[in-house]
Amino acid sequence: MSILQVRNITKVYEGKVSYKALDGVNFSIEKGEFVGIMGPSGSGKTTLLNMVSTIDSPTAGEVIINGRNPHQLKKKDIALFRRRELGFVFQYFNLLDTLTVEENIILPLTLDKVDTKVMAERVARVTNKLGISEILKKRTYEISGGQMQRTAIARAIIHHPQLILADEPTGNLDSKSSKDVMETLQHLNEEENATMMMVTHDALAASYCNRVIFIKDGQLYNELHRGQNRQSFYQQIIDVLSVLGGNAHELSATRI
Ligand SMILES: Nc1ncnc2c1ncn2[C@@H]1O[C@H](COP(=O)(O)OP(=O)(O)OP(=O)(O)O)[C@@H](O)[C@H]1O
Ligand SMILES: [Mg+2]
Repeated sequence: MSILQVRNITKVYEGKVSYKALDGVNFSIEKGEFVGIMGPSGSGKTTLLNMVSTIDSPTAGEVIINGRNPHQLKKKDIALFRRRELGFVFQYFNLLDTLTVEENIILPLTLDKVDTKVMAERVARVTNKLGISEILKKRTYEISGGQMQRTAIARAIIHHPQLILADEPTGNLDSKSSKDVMETLQHLNEEENATMMMVTHDALAASYCNRVIFIKDGQLYNELHRGQNRQSFYQQIIDVLSVLGGNAHELSATRI
């Protein structure tokens, strides 16, 4: 079953000079898949993510999430759809530093007035899984970058979203924390059958995905499926990036 279908999406940014950032992009993501999106700077990755996350709407084409086109909903319903069906993980974590780790994590549930007992159970389960149950009472400025990102991941999944969207989740982490975060996402994918789409420049991060879609100049360029071996998948990704050009691979060529 497809959780996400991107059907012939085109995005033109209008301005003094209009610019076609996406040009007829088609793909789908099945339930339980972990898909990476890669491509050179300016190729349209963030634009694509914004179409899927309903932050911006396409000029042509359709986005179908779990059988529904959120772009056809009313504004108020889009916000609700986003909050209930999607989970977000960002490069800059986007945690609130006036709140504790725990308060950050339950934020999506408090908005929906979920029962406190249910909340406590979910927090215990998720934070156990992510290895952050010891730091629940800390403020976000008292924890490490990797812990911040795992807190953000906990917040992104606490309401059991259909689709988790991540934008450069390792972009601000050192290599050890990146590895932690990617292993966390991988376990989430394998054990909870979570469906994820992750934009990244980082070939090492991408090597944790089941499949990587490459875009170039707003169009699909190539697609790689991971076999048994992550190291060789990493090498295949590096090879595509080096043909793709741009600065897409400069970040992580040295840290396998
Ligand atoms: N709001 C906007 N108005 C006009 N042009 C835009 C806008 N946002 C992005 N673009 C252009 O669309 C193209 C794709 O941008 P996008 O941000 O999707 O690239 P990206 O693949 O995410 O790049 P990066 O890897 O640098 O983050 C770029 O040429 C960019 O300049
Ligand atoms: Mg971008």
